[in-house]
Amino acid sequence: MDERTIKQYDDFASTYVAEWTHQTPVVVRQLVSKWFTHGSVVLDIGSGSGRDVSWLWNNGYKTQGVDASIGLLNSARLANPGVPFTQDSLPLLAKISSVSVDNVLCTAVLMHLPVGEIAPAAFNMLRVLRVGGRLICSVRPSRESEPREADGRLYTSIEPEVIAGVFRDHGAVVLEAITSDGRRADTIWHTVVIEKS
Ligand SMILES: C[S@@+](CC[C@H](N)C(=O)[O-])C[C@H]1O[C@@H](n2cnc3c(N)ncnc32)[C@H](O)[C@@H]1O
Repeated sequence: MDERTIKQYDDFASTYVAEWTHQTPVVVRQLVSKWFTHGSVVLDIGSGSGRDVSWLWNNGYKTQGVDASIGLLNSARLANPGVPFTQDSLPLLAKISSVSVDNVLCTAVLMHLPVGEIAPAAFNMLRVLRVGGRLICSVRPSRESEPREADGRLYTSIEPEVIAGVFRDHGAVVLEAITSDGRRADTIWHTVVIEKS
């Protein structure tokens, strides 16, 4: 876990919540509807404001959230009464039991990890999934010349084939890989759908 990134999210939690709450991650929602069985158990890792937890819950998924930032978790809990949230972090996910969920959503999180934590994070996301379970994971590169953007958040560069390879190295299958534009002209997103075999 990158402490500076989490401190930034904690210190400015209400600003990020206001920014994210009204965004609609269209590509991710299409992929969830396509690949996550309706009514299944979904763990949203790096759940942020809880926006996607709300959407999942309202669309019939049994949802749980995990985030490293207590400031963001507090907002997500307030917005989603009845949904279980846990303060925990990648790469270890130490509080989440093995083979305990059907699907994992991890959008806009993995690039916040130092490069040496990416493979252990992939291992632990697969560890918590049941066999046949699916994982949707998205990352974006830094918008600046350095991996750490001016606000202090780390954006480790992870090429799409590298993300896919990290999961394949742990025996998983890549079902789909998409590169899409972000809302901002200077942003692209790499999204992969993985199945635990
Ligand atoms: C850019 S936000 C994405 C939030 C949400 N998934 C979305 O798509 O809007 C990144 C989130 O990941 C969390 N995060 C960053 N590093 C983490 C780590 N190592 N373990 C768990 N959560 C982390 C942050 O606190 C923040 O809520």
